[in-house]
Amino acid sequence: MMTNFDVHYLTLGCNLDTWNNHGKKEAISIDLSPQNNSHMLLCGMSGSGKSYMEQAILAKLSLAEPDGEIFFADYKGDDSFLHLRNCSRYYSYLDSLCALDAVHSKLLMRQSGEDTTRNPVTLIFDEYMAAVLNLLAQDKKNAAAVMGKVSEILLLGRSLSVRFICVCQRPDALAFPAGSRLNYGIVCVLGAAVRSIYEMLLPDFREEVQGRQFGRGEGVVLLQGSELRYIKVPTVQDSRRMKELCAAALSRRPPREA
Ligand SMILES: Nc1ncnc2c1ncn2[C@@H]1O[C@H](COP(=O)(O)OP(=O)(O)OP(=O)(O)O)[C@@H](O)[C@H]1O
Ligand SMILES: [Mg+2]
Repeated sequence: MMTNFDVHYLTLGCNLDTWNNHGKKEAISIDLSPQNNSHMLLCGMSGSGKSYMEQAILAKLSLAEPDGEIFFADYKGDDSFLHLRNCSRYYSYLDSLCALDAVHSKLLMRQSGEDTTRNPVTLIFDEYMAAVLNLLAQDKKNAAAVMGKVSEILLLGRSLSVRFICVCQRPDALAFPAGSRLNYGIVCVLGAAVRSIYEMLLPDFREEVQGRQFGRGEGVVLLQGSELRYIKVPTVQDSRRMKELCAAALSRRPPREA
């Protein structure tokens, strides 16, 4: 039985320096309880390991929040998510926007009081920037509506237990209206240093971070806008189990419907 006092943690990865210098695995974890902002922005150039980390997060989130409901938008239709394609809350390419609609509707129902449940609802959106750029090229009004829904989730979601995990290569201002990057409690940049990304996401720390070098699955994470950590995403030992957990998480029925 869960109470309001239960605290759930999610391990994002390990402390990179402790790993490299002492061969020790020291977890970098975040508090998932609604008191904390756990909206997450995960960036990095192609091949830096974003989707890999994202999948590990999905699996761990499903264990940390057994009453949670996770929606997964895979805009690119990435081969690394092939095993998720038949899951009821997996959405690909243009359908990705249906995942956003579903989660946004849940937010509004909770906000209006129609839905009094507060089990955690999470939308993980891979290649969010590409989805918005595509929309902007075709239908600016619709693109603005999509960004508006994301903004509402970011602004209202924490206390209503609705979370957004945004994954993209470069979070350009086009898809991130003024100030919206500040609404992410967890900001992670993986892989090779890209000055413009650091300037956008870690302005207070860019000098310090720019002197470092990161490989695939390595990078920097900023927690609640103030705590900077260097992170390593360990290779998953049992990838079959991870895939099973992810598939189960995107298929299981939420408690009120079960
Ligand atoms: N921490 C890691 N340990 C082991 N392998 C990894 C790790 N991170 C990524 N990889 C591998 O590196 C490759 C690229 O990773 P991934 O697809 O996650 O990159 P990405 O940042 O999502 O790239 P893109 O932007 O092109 O989608 C994949 O084959 C993945 O399995
Ligand atoms: Mg990817």
